[in-house]
Amino acid sequence: MALKPSRGTLLWGRRVHVWAGGVQWPQMPAHQPGNGGLTVEPINIAEYEAMAYEKLPHDAWEYYIGGSDDELTLRANRDAFARIRLRPRVLVDVSHISLETTVLGAHVRTPLLVAPMAYHGFAHVECECETVRGVGAAGTLMTVSTMANRPLEEVAADASGPLWFQLYVYRDRNVSEQLVRRAEAAGYRALVLTVDTPRLSRREREIRMGFGLPPHLHTANFEGAAREQPGQTPGASGLAVYATALLDSSLTWEALDWLRSVTSLPIVVKGVVTAEDAALAVEHGAQGIIVSNHGGRQLDGTVATIEALPEVVAAANGRVEVYLDGGIRRGTDALKALALGARAVLVGRPVLWGLAANGQQGVTRVLELLGAELELAMALAGAPSLAALTPALVRLPG
Ligand SMILES: Cc1cc2nc3c(=O)[nH]c(=O)nc-3n(C[C@H](O)[C@H](O)[C@H](O)COP(=O)(O)O)c2cc1C
Repeated sequence: MALKPSRGTLLWGRRVHVWAGGVQWPQMPAHQPGNGGLTVEPINIAEYEAMAYEKLPHDAWEYYIGGSDDELTLRANRDAFARIRLRPRVLVDVSHISLETTVLGAHVRTPLLVAPMAYHGFAHVECECETVRGVGAAGTLMTVSTMANRPLEEVAADASGPLWFQLYVYRDRNVSEQLVRRAEAAGYRALVLTVDTPRLSRREREIRMGFGLPPHLHTANFEGAAREQPGQTPGASGLAVYATALLDSSLTWEALDWLRSVTSLPIVVKGVVTAEDAALAVEHGAQGIIVSNHGGRQLDGTVATIEALPEVVAAANGRVEVYLDGGIRRGTDALKALALGARAVLVGRPVLWGLAANGQQGVTRVLELLGAELELAMALAGAPSLAALTPALVRLPG
């Protein structure tokens, strides 16, 4: 069966096809009779993406895949990886390769972690609980979003690996503080403070659909005042309406000081793309920095994360761990980020593709596929350990 590139978007009465994230789907495995659809196991992330497209409802697909405005940054994250060339070394003993590492002291089998993403419930009825089972089987760490469809305690109960909790700071700081207390009690190892979302960007796919949560899904972490839900909103993104009402757009670096005063968990600042902000994050006591542009979902035109990584690593100067997310779709993408100084990378949308395609097994498989690609790339690059991945391995463009 020939796959459609996308379900298309209705624009001025015409159906137009939008390439999401610059991904060009390769030839898909053929359908086989009697097996209810795609049967050959996908062999790369693009094929998982195509499978998820077949399975997800249109609204969910558009919500997951989309970026802001013209989706320049969404595409830039991928394009920038493609522009970096590798300088492999040869005749190195690569008969044993280990991907094992630690992140903030927690042991993981692979430097591929899972990024925080809202609303896994569109992809699977068991929501984040299903995802975390798949992540545990892959031996790595998951970051659970404030906006999960399952309470953070339920997700923790199904986890077999380390967890981080992603925090948005609400206008009512008691709401955020309660989340911190609950994350501590449930055994989360760190708090990931997302700092690139003082307001939600314009995500036109969401606006067009009047995107919001259907009645059977809700943001499960809230009780009381913040229980208000991002509902379906004709002509607007229900998410943007929700974020404007509840998130604190007056946040400054003081928020990091406040957070440190209410918890002893390590704090990872997510959404930094400049040396200036990396230095401030360190000054204000962060223990980790995630170089992220929210997967191209916030300020459009922002630098690609792999382009921003070197200046953040230089500013951090070994004082905190630096991670990267945005556009990791191949083992070689992870290889480039690790060579440029990331301690680990976080994978976003591909995890949702795995979840939608095949539940927890799909999640595990997506992470294992990327891990196997990374391991092979290390062998071919003459780098048998993560420590051997240095900037000498890459040639930056220009
Ligand atoms: C559907 C979706 C929901 C997301 N929700 C959140 C969120 O709740 N909190 C957050 O900090 N980042 C969120 N992100 C951003 C991701 O954590 C991450 O930065 C991004 O997806 C990485 O890029 P990638 O999808 O290209 O791998 C979300 C991303 C997607 C695709």
